[in-house]
Amino acid sequence: MLPAYVPNPVAAIFGGGTPIDLGRKAGDGRRILGDGKTYRGLLAGVFSGLLVGFAEIVCSGAGLPGWLPVPTVSTILALALGALLGDIAKSFFKRRFGKERGEKWFLADQYDLVFGSLLLLALLSPGWFIAYITLPVLVAILIITPILHRAANIIGYSLGVKDVPW
Ligand code: CTP
Ligand code: MG
Repeated sequence: MLPAYVPNPVAAIFGGGTPIDLGRKAGDGRRILGDGKTYRGLLAGVFSGLLVGFAEIVCSGAGLPGWLPVPTVSTILALALGALLGDIAKSFFKRRFGKERGEKWFLADQYDLVFGSLLLLALLSPGWFIAYITLPVLVAILIITPILHRAANIIGYSLGVKDVPW
């Protein structure tokens, strides 16, 4: 899951500039995505997730038992890109529900990346998804993610990278 966890904080550090929705509004008069989703954040985030993933691919060659599939480029691309596509989809629905940029949205803010990364993983790397995302692994992900999310946001807030500590 590291390639899925890394893109969000990296997007928060390196993001900014042109918003993905180019400032456009939806039919409801609100922004399509908002200023919190930028091209720079998306590119830097996916790139960082891929870097971590490549490091994991290099390391996994040595230790994996033969019957487990080795992660591929599609595996790590699905995790990194899926995490941020989940985040973007979350922001789309957040705006449609009238929530401002940075406003809290319980559960969606925590699990958008899990939903996006696992969905894209099932589509792009199904063999790896079936072999690794077992029920105990899924339960572990659902427990660990909100804890990591909270910790990362508190650190990001105290460093001045995030506007709000959630
Ligand atoms: N960010 C970015 N591009 C992305 C994702 C994030 O530039 N694709 C940056 C933005 O500066 C954003 C920060 O990372 O403000 C934190 O991300 P997040 O909490 O997801 O955005 P919010 O500002 O809270 O906006 P939203 O309410 O839409 O979630
Ligand atoms: Mg947010």
